[in-house]
Amino acid sequence: MSLLIKGGRIVTAADDYVADIYVDDERISLIGEELDHQADRVIDASGKYVLPGCIDPHTHLDMPFGGTVTIDDVESGQTSAAFGGTTCHVDFIIQGKGQTFAAALDDWRAKANGKQVIDMGYHMAVTDLAEGGTLEELASLPEQGITSYKLFMAYKGALMVDDETLYRTMEVAAKTGALVMVHAENGDVIDVLVQEALAAGHTEPLYHALTRPPEAEGEATNRAIQLAHLAGAPLYVVHVSCKEAVEPIALARERGWNVWGETCTQYFFTSLDDIAKPDFEGAKYVFSPPVRDKSNWDVLWNAVRTDALSAISTDHCAFLWDGQKTLGKDDFSKIPNGGPGLENRLQMIHEFGVRSGRISLNRMVELLATNPAKLFGLYPRKGTIAVGSDADLVIFDPEKTTTISAKTHHSKVDYSLYEGTQVTGTPELVLLRGHVLVENGELVATPGIGRFVARARFGEELRSGQLTVTS
Ligand code: URP
Ligand code: ZN
Ligand code: ZN
Repeated sequence: MSLLIKGGRIVTAADDYVADIYVDDERISLIGEELDHQADRVIDASGKYVLPGCIDPHTHLDMPFGGTVTIDDVESGQTSAAFGGTTCHVDFIIQGKGQTFAAALDDWRAKANGKQVIDMGYHMAVTDLAEGGTLEELASLPEQGITSYKLFMAYKGALMVDDETLYRTMEVAAKTGALVMVHAENGDVIDVLVQEALAAGHTEPLYHALTRPPEAEGEATNRAIQLAHLAGAPLYVVHVSCKEAVEPIALARERGWNVWGETCTQYFFTSLDDIAKPDFEGAKYVFSPPVRDKSNWDVLWNAVRTDALSAISTDHCAFLWDGQKTLGKDDFSKIPNGGPGLENRLQMIHEFGVRSGRISLNRMVELLATNPAKLFGLYPRKGTIAVGSDADLVIFDPEKTTTISAKTHHSKVDYSLYEGTQVTGTPELVLLRGHVLVENGELVATPGIGRFVARARFGEELRSGQLTVTS
């Protein structure tokens, strides 16, 4: 199947120009002016942006957590992603206690089998090096294209690891070329604060935020940075929510250390006012790190503009408000942690980042596609528009206005963090390796079209044909 995309405004992290793109055999084979190649289909993109398919480096599909399982499985989550212009994501495999990494990988591959709508890779979340996976097994994962290890410094009694596990994993990463990712909050301190709040009779959702103060995030972020530096491992801090965590990342980066940080769409738009909403409405905003004081919004915009933070993910971890969040109706500590957003990242960042003049169009592409691709071993195969890259493309209508709502989104979740928000600019046509995924508001492709992408090691490039891509 060949495609000729005519006259679109091609926007990458570096460039912004009008040209034609010729796609053949799933890849971009030519970019130029007034191309007149024969193609199976010609797409008129005049007046539209042509963006690289966005990459979400942080999602949780079909994941057991907090006594339940995230509501979006691979099919519904990836469908939602596709409508939002995301054509590749990296999901978290969670190693069960006592489980080998191979068994955990098998579990996650089974969840995806036949359901994939977009391309995907996996991070491995290490939870147990005592009785489950061994350091040797961990070291073998990059050979299978799993080139990032995730550690939770919070969720005591569930996913949290101790500093020994954190540090040993960092030592393995330093040898194998994997990137270490941390959920940086001090889980021991949070556990004390939660017990104290419950003992004082505080059960409402607001106490989720009040028992996870910014200092707990700042401390853990700094600890992870210092330990990664000691181990010689590259570090990526996920879902940074506040000034106390941005500052140590910015300082490490000024020193030239191998440290990067991400924030998520929701931290620019939600605050303590939301989680304090009455009638259990606040439970919709229970995720970790929690919503913060609004003063952090400008801190985060400034951080993504100045590259103190280098990526924006969604941390899509969706639970129904009615039926799942309600597990914590009488005890905030039992509300499953996580929020939705896989479909809304591009629209929201375009509207409130680019159209509001906070970041450039190029920087938006860099934050949502190019940097995630570079950091997670997908570049230049993905994350840019170049000859030889996968034809993962978003034809984006910058003038079309839509209203975000749970009534129209494609996730299974029963609420939206951005309900009623009007945005101008939306994906019109979404291509995965040259195959049309979304057109005229419909999913055109059949689940199964997406593939697992074996990612390159940290700092290495991934080109077509270099590493296997399996279905
Ligand atoms: O509350 C959140 N963020 N849930 C997903 C798991 C995690 O911590 O990333
Ligand atoms: Zn987390
Ligand atoms: Zn997460």
